[in-house]
Amino acid sequence: MKVVVLFGSPRKDGNTIQLVHAFCEVLKHKGHDVETLYLNDMNIRPCQGCLSCIPEGICGIDDDMKDVRTYIMDSDVIVYATPVYWWGPSAQLKLAIDRSIAFFDEQYQSRIAGKKAVTLMTFADQDPTTSQPALDMFSRTFGGLGLSNLGGVEVSGCEGKVRLGEEALQKARNLAESIA
Ligand SMILES: Cc1cc2nc3c(=O)[nH]c(=O)nc-3n(C[C@H](O)[C@H](O)[C@H](O)COP(=O)(O)O)c2cc1C
Repeated sequence: MKVVVLFGSPRKDGNTIQLVHAFCEVLKHKGHDVETLYLNDMNIRPCQGCLSCIPEGICGIDDDMKDVRTYIMDSDVIVYATPVYWWGPSAQLKLAIDRSIAFFDEQYQSRIAGKKAVTLMTFADQDPTTSQPALDMFSRTFGGLGLSNLGGVEVSGCEGKVRLGEEALQKARNLAESIA
């Protein structure tokens, strides 16, 4: 399998990356091809809503979303990894999601239908329902894009920089095992 991680945190040594590492280690160990895209380091402009991408699937903006698009097109599994920012994904990840309108054709059929999607999220609040609005957004987005939602791991109580507990890391490993 080819797996691409769309990593939405600006912190490469923060909380969400620990889930990504636990998840990816299992997949790499099983011989899968895993690539992590650090969206914060990439130049991804906001969608301009021109819809010129719809006929050919090619966005008119010449930026790093071209590379993200290629990775998504070539992958079997897309991992959406992000801290919860204001009950949603980070802006870094949302930019890539907005630009994913280019995966629709004229009939609003998805060019990436059938691929699989996973979510990995951390957030500060102790209340586990804090990630629910983001989970709902992902679920509907995956539905729109025809992606099969393989589930996710959400970790509450991640205020500041924390070391994630073994239980959380094991959940990420188990999720990887379930799809590997
Ligand atoms: C701009 C911003 C917005 C945030 N919004 C929320 C929020 O709505 N709910 C919450 O529980 N935590 C929120 N947090 C905390 C982060 O989600 C949390 O610390 C997360 O684990 C950071 O992950 P990272 O280290 O991978 O960046 C926010 C943090 C920032 C910087």
